[in-house]
Amino acid sequence: MTGPPATVPSAARRAMVARLAAPGDVAPSVLRAMAQVPREDFLPSAWRGAAYQDRAVPIGHGQSCSQPQIVAAVVTALRLAGGERVLEVGLGCGYQAAVLRAAGAASVVGIEWVPALAESARATLERLHVGGIEVRVGDGGLGAPDRAPFDAIVVSAAAPWLPPPLLAQLTSRGRLVLPLREGPELDRLWLVRRRPGGGWDWEPLGPCRFVPLLGGFGTVPESPPPAPGTA
Ligand SMILES: C[S@@+](CC[C@H](N)C(=O)[O-])C[C@H]1O[C@@H](n2cnc3c(N)ncnc32)[C@H](O)[C@@H]1O
Repeated sequence: MTGPPATVPSAARRAMVARLAAPGDVAPSVLRAMAQVPREDFLPSAWRGAAYQDRAVPIGHGQSCSQPQIVAAVVTALRLAGGERVLEVGLGCGYQAAVLRAAGAASVVGIEWVPALAESARATLERLHVGGIEVRVGDGGLGAPDRAPFDAIVVSAAAPWLPPPLLAQLTSRGRLVLPLREGPELDRLWLVRRRPGGGWDWEPLGPCRFVPLLGGFGTVPESPPPAPGTA
């Protein structure tokens, strides 16, 4: 099998998807994908009952499975048309990667900093017969140069700045979504696209709250990076 199994959505999952659909800003393909992927299977057993509440759920090691509303916004912003090569920095439990595959991504390279989480994500994806997701352990801020370029890149942890290696690994029409840290309690989600004449367009998608990006790009470099909108 090459994608998530087409399971019949549980009533709770259907209710979650209906709530996500109500404001009208989530792509229909993303709603279909989220109706297909069993979020409960990616969560620790003690938290399965909360799988379809619109909240981030702890997955151990101080990390979390992203809030469904954020997953819906992120995957919608990537505007997958089908067949894209995607990189996810911060694979966590693997839920969003499975949604990306169900929403049309041909392949996902998912990089996770915590080896135990990567191992558990790998096992869950295998158990659910979700193919096309390559699980790697390491510093996702470095991307996956050996698998680049990517049509879409998603960073699932809040960074103080955009890791430059990721921009270099986007195709010319590629899209990148990442949360940037704005304060101790506030992150903002950004969509970054290459401008046809050179440079980058930065579009704010809204406030959010993510766990911090770890590794070499988790702290601000000595010479300040360009501010959004000027890169
Ligand atoms: C919000 S969680 C991921 C949620 C996940 N995408 C999901 O499906 O819900 C963020 C993850 O990013 C990981 N992470 C943080 N910094 C990282 C880095 N530099 N490279 C790879 N993974 C990183 C954390 O260990 C954590 O598992």
